[in-house]
Amino acid sequence: MKVLMTGGAGFIGSNTAAAVLDAGHDVIVLDNYCNSDPGVIERIEQVGGRPIVDIRCDVTDREEVRRVFREHKVDAVVHFAGLKAVGESVQQPVRYYRNNLDGILTMLEVMAEFGVKRFVFSSSATVYGGDNQVPFTEEMPLGECTNPYGWTKRMGEQILRDAAAADPELSVVLLRYFNPVGGHESGLLGEHPNGVPNNLMPYIVQVAQGKREKLSVFGDDYDTPDGTGVRDYIHVTDLAKGHVAALEYTLDHTGVEVVNLGTGHGVSVLELVQAFEKATGCTVPYEIAPRRAGDIAQCYAKVDKAQKVLNWRADKTVEEMCRDSWNGRNTKAGQ
Ligand code: WQD
Repeated sequence: MKVLMTGGAGFIGSNTAAAVLDAGHDVIVLDNYCNSDPGVIERIEQVGGRPIVDIRCDVTDREEVRRVFREHKVDAVVHFAGLKAVGESVQQPVRYYRNNLDGILTMLEVMAEFGVKRFVFSSSATVYGGDNQVPFTEEMPLGECTNPYGWTKRMGEQILRDAAAADPELSVVLLRYFNPVGGHESGLLGEHPNGVPNNLMPYIVQVAQGKREKLSVFGDDYDTPDGTGVRDYIHVTDLAKGHVAALEYTLDHTGVEVVNLGTGHGVSVLELVQAFEKATGCTVPYEIAPRRAGDIAQCYAKVDKAQKVLNWRADKTVEEMCRDSWNGRNTKAGQ
């Protein structure tokens, strides 16, 4: 298959591009590089062992996207492109709704024009909201999202469900990511957020590097085993392979499938810090700080459906996630 990957130069996109190449498919990366590094393209090719097509383009620019489809025979789309900073989305909701929803709508319009029927969507566990009980299962009713970013994922899923209901040939897989971390084993496709990291693992890496003085642990009074927040961290390489499984699933299925991509295990902030120190030999000084607005105590997946529907499950351990996050610290993948 020739797979068009919007936002393919980002952290998850670049690791998925490497996995798609490894599975024998061809890759077209379409990215506006607003939050990723153009230099990652050559690293994807280095890891993947062959060239990819790389197009600088904004997914909301319909004429540019139409040109891509005219010039390349696209068999399937993996849609990563979107703004993804939770806190920023609270400050700039209109920009997030405009960008993230326009991107999905533009891709669907152009796919329909060119008869492309396979769509894998980068969704998020954030759509479960804060009221559901863990482990989160795909069948459970979705809660209230705690931020506009989460709502764009929720609305994106609804747009795709309605598009698939109107076109029986459309094949859509909604992949709900839990907490992607790590990096390609080569160390070439690491995670490098712009500015101060919002997420835990890249912040831990920067503390271990000496770029940050210490980690602030956002709350130790949650109803969890050690009081700190529990999440389902998943190695980005496992996540990438989940996308390959989803793409291959679209070859002989139509309609919509929603699938959790997680490990099914919850890990607390302090457990991750300890695992990181063990895996890397670094020390990670921290202090307990107040809770972060919008955080929930626990978020981890039920993962039976991924195994049943996609014949996929996450294999890598928390220690491997920490090791590969540390090994990828010096080279940019996406942000
Ligand atoms: C994990 C845990 C924090 C930073 C977010 C988005 C989600 C997805 C993944 C895009 C929490 C704690 C964090 C720090 C800390 N993104 N923490 N100190 O919030 O689970 O998920 O990123 O799809 O949509 O919501 O990830 O890494 O920010 O936080 O104590 O400096 O680490 O409180 O318990 P989160 P995170």
